[in-house]
Amino acid sequence: MRVLPLLWQALWWHHFFLLWSIIDGQTRYSIPEELKQGSVVGNLAKDLGLGLSEIFDRKLRVASEAGKQYFSVDAGKGELVVNDRIDREALCGQSASCVLPLQVVIEDPLQLFRVEVEIQDINDNAPRFPSNDIALEIAESTVVGVRFPLESAIDPDVGSNSLKSYTLSKDECFSIRVKEVAGGRKVPELILAKLLDREKKAVHKLLLTALDGGNPVKSGSSQISIKVLDINDNVPAFEKSLYKVSINENAAEGAMIVQTKASDMDDGQNGEIEYSFGAHTSDSVLSVFNIDHASGTIFLKGKLDFESTSNYEIDISAKDKGSPRMEGHCTVQVEVLDVNDNAPEIILTSHPKPVREDSPSGTVVALISARDLDSGDNGKVTLQLPKKSQFALKPSFSQNYALVTSGVLDRENVSEYNIDITATDSGSPPLSSKKTISVSITDVNDNSPVFTQPSYNVYLKENGVPGSILYSVSASDLDFGENAKISYSILDSKVQDVSVSSYVYINSDNGSIYSMHSFDYEKLKVFQIQVQAKDQGSPSLSSNTTVHVFILDQNDNAPAVIYPSSAALGSLSHQRMPRSAKAGHLVTKVTAVDADSGHNAWISYKLAEATDASLFTVNLYTGEVRTKRAVSEQDDSSQRLLIEIKDDGEPVQSSTVTVSILLEDGLHEPILDLRQKMAEPSKKNGRITLYLILSLASVSVLSLLTFLILTVKCIRNSRSSGSCCMRRTDCDDYKNPNRNLQIQLNTDGPIKYVEVLGGDMLSQSQSFRSCMSPMSEYSDFTLIKPSSTTDFKEVISVLDASLPDSTWTFESQQVNSLQHPRGTKTGLCGRKSSW
Ligand SMILES: *[C@@H]1O[C@H](CO)[C@@H](O)[C@H](O)[C@H]1NC(C)=O
Ligand SMILES: *[C@@H]1O[C@H](CO)[C@@H](O)[C@H](O)[C@H]1NC(C)=O
Ligand SMILES: *[C@@H]1O[C@H](CO)[C@@H](O)[C@H](O)[C@H]1NC(C)=O
Repeated sequence: MRVLPLLWQALWWHHFFLLWSIIDGQTRYSIPEELKQGSVVGNLAKDLGLGLSEIFDRKLRVASEAGKQYFSVDAGKGELVVNDRIDREALCGQSASCVLPLQVVIEDPLQLFRVEVEIQDINDNAPRFPSNDIALEIAESTVVGVRFPLESAIDPDVGSNSLKSYTLSKDECFSIRVKEVAGGRKVPELILAKLLDREKKAVHKLLLTALDGGNPVKSGSSQISIKVLDINDNVPAFEKSLYKVSINENAAEGAMIVQTKASDMDDGQNGEIEYSFGAHTSDSVLSVFNIDHASGTIFLKGKLDFESTSNYEIDISAKDKGSPRMEGHCTVQVEVLDVNDNAPEIILTSHPKPVREDSPSGTVVALISARDLDSGDNGKVTLQLPKKSQFALKPSFSQNYALVTSGVLDRENVSEYNIDITATDSGSPPLSSKKTISVSITDVNDNSPVFTQPSYNVYLKENGVPGSILYSVSASDLDFGENAKISYSILDSKVQDVSVSSYVYINSDNGSIYSMHSFDYEKLKVFQIQVQAKDQGSPSLSSNTTVHVFILDQNDNAPAVIYPSSAALGSLSHQRMPRSAKAGHLVTKVTAVDADSGHNAWISYKLAEATDASLFTVNLYTGEVRTKRAVSEQDDSSQRLLIEIKDDGEPVQSSTVTVSILLEDGLHEPILDLRQKMAEPSKKNGRITLYLILSLASVSVLSLLTFLILTVKCIRNSRSSGSCCMRRTDCDDYKNPNRNLQIQLNTDGPIKYVEVLGGDMLSQSQSFRSCMSPMSEYSDFTLIKPSSTTDFKEVISVLDASLPDSTWTFESQQVNSLQHPRGTKTGLCGRKSSW
C-alpha cells in the first residue's frame, strides 16, 4: 500500500505540470475520504463557466490520470460525483496531503481543465499492534528502572488521526513510557517500577493500548504476558518452629515419631526440599532417630529408654536444591514417657546372719531395700513375704526394710529357711520380681538325748565270756553338733552290795555295754543298770534309762542226789525190805535236786542196771522204787540197783546212784527206819540236811496239811476262774531274815505254784513271783517282775510276749528250792507234780 501511492504520486506530478502549461486557472475541491458513491464533490460545469447545454454538447467528461475513475460527471447537472470508494490511506499513504488531480475535457473546442480533489483524512483506522500477544520473561531479581522496549503500534491515519499515545493496564510493578525515535515513531517502553516477586505473582498480564488522536479516539491493544523467572530467594520454612511429641519408651523400632513439614515458595529446584538432622546433632540422637530426607518424617531407629534419656531435642534442617541452597530449621522435642518396663529389684543391704533358734520374735536377720528404675507409680514397690512365714518385714525409711523373725523358730524342725520375698510395683500391668533369702538357724541345746526305749530288757545266758558285749543302748539327740554329741555312762548303783561298775562297763561313745565277768544264774538272776546319755552342749542335757539284765539259766548243774546220799557217805546205801512185801511195795525213794531251774532242773529217774530187773521199778518222776511183783523165795537177798538221774536240760546232765536192797524176813517198818536215817544227817550237816528235811517234809508228812492251806488261800485269792496265783504284797513279812524261805503250794494234788522268798532283796522292795497257767498242762510261766507293779494282769501280758517260753517253763516231778546265801527270792512253777 505504500509502494502504490508513491507510484501514483509520481504520475500525478507529471500530468500536473503538463496540464498546468495548457490551462490556466484551476478548480480545487476538497472532500473527505470514504464518501458514498454518488456524493457530489462540486458543480463542475458552473465552476468552469459552462452552461447546462454545453455540458452535453461539448461532451464534458473527466479523465482520470490514474487508472481508476474515482469520479464521474453528472451529465444533467454538470456535477462532479464520487464514482468509487476513495481510501486516502490507499491513495496517499502516510503523506500529509492527498490531492487527486482530474482532467476535465471539453470538446468543440477542445479545452482541458485541471481540477484537483483534495482527499481529506478521516479517522477510519485504529492503531494496531503487530501482534496481539507479547510474551516477556523477566528475572525476579531485575533491578527497578530497567526498560523493556516493546513493538510500537501502527495507525495508517495521518495527522491528528494518527497514533498519539499508549496506555498500560494498571500494574504496580510496571509502567509505560513512550519514546520518540527518529521519524517521529513512538515506541512504547515497559519500565520495571517495583521489584518483582515470583512468589507473589509469577505471571503479570498487562494490556498495552495504543490510542490515536482522532475524534472519536480509536485504539488497539496487545496482551503482554510477563513471566517472572524464579530465583532462589526463599528459605524453606517449617510449619512450626517447635514440634512437641510424646512417645512411650517401649515404642517399636521403626515407629513414626512426627512428620515435620517445611515449604519453600520458590519454584522448581529452588523449592525442592531435602530434610536432614541439624549439623550438630549428637550421636545419641543419631543412634535413636532416623529422618526421611524426602518427607521429613522422623522414625525411631533404636530403643528408647526413659531411665537413661527422658527428653530429646532434635534440630531438623530443610534445604532446597537451589543455588545457593537455602536452609530452614525447626526443633523437635521428643518427650519419652515412662512405661513400666523395669521390674523392681530387691537388694540385700546386709547379708542374712544365722539366727539362734531361741531368738526372740523381732530379731533382725537382714536389711533389704527395694528399687525400681521406673518413675511414678511404675516405680512404687511393695515387698511381700509368703503367708505363714516365720519372718516379717519391718519398714524403716523409704523403700528400706528389716527382715525380722516373727514367731518361734525351731532348728530341729526347720534348720534353714528360704524366704521368698516378692517385690511388686504399682504399674499397670504391675511387674514383680522374687528373691530368695536363705537364713540358717543355729542350734541351741534344747533337746535332751532320747533313748530308743524307755527301758531295756536284756537276756543274758549265764557263764558268758567276760568282756563280751552284753547289750548296746542308743540314744539320739535332735540337736546339732556338740549339742547332739552323746556320751554314755553308767550311773553308780549297787548289785548285791557291789558297785554295778564292777559288773559291767559302757563304751561312752556308742553305748555298748560289756560284761566284766561271767554271771551265774544260780547266784544272780537279775540286776539293773542305770545308763545316762549326756550331750556335750553347754549346759548339757541328759536322760536316763534302765537296763534290766536277766540272767538266763544254762544247764550247768548235774542233778545232785540227796537221798540216799551215797556220795556223801562214801558207801553204798543199804535199804531193807521184807520178803513178804507184795507187788507195789515202796522200797525206797531216790531224791535228787538240780541247782538249775526250769527244764534244766526237771529231773527224771531211770533204772539203769539191776540184779533182777524184773523185781524193781523206778518211778520216772518221783524216784520211788517199788517192787514189780511179790518177792519169792528164789530172789537173791541182796539186790543192787543203779539208778540214773537226768535233768531235762540241753545238754542233759546226769548222775547215778547205786541202791543196794537187802531182802529180809520179818521186817515191817521200813519208813521208820528211813526217818531215823534221815534225821541224823540233818542235824549234822547244815545246808543239805536242811534241804533234805524240807523236801521230805513237803513230800510226806506235811503235804496234805499244806495242800489244805493252799486250797483255802487259793479260793480266796484267785481272780480268774482257772488260774491260781499267789501274791505277796506285804513285804514286811519277808524282811525277817529268819524267815527267808517260804514255800507255798496250791491244791489239786499237783503243785501249781511255789514261791521261795529270800530276805535281802526285799529290802529293795523287790520280789519275784512265778505263776503258771492252768489252761494247758505243759505250758507254764515263770514271771519275774519288780513288786512295785501292782497290776498282775498287765505283767502277764507284757512278759507273755517277751519271754522265751521254753526257757522259763519247766515241769518237774520234784521241786527243790535252794536258798541263796544272800537271800534271793526264787519263784518256781510246777505242773503235774506228784509227790
Ligand atoms: C514345723 O514346721 C512346719 C512348717 O515348716 C510347721 O507347719 C510345723 O508346725 C512345725 N512344727 C513344729 C513342731 O514346730
Ligand atoms: C562300739 O564300739 C566298739 C569298739 O569300737 C565296737 O566293738 C562295738 O561294736 C561298737 N558298738 C556298736 C553298737 O557299734
Ligand atoms: C538320772 O539319774 C541321776 C542319778 O540318779 C539323777 O541325778 C538325774 O537327775 C537323772 N536324770 C534324769 C533326766 O532323770
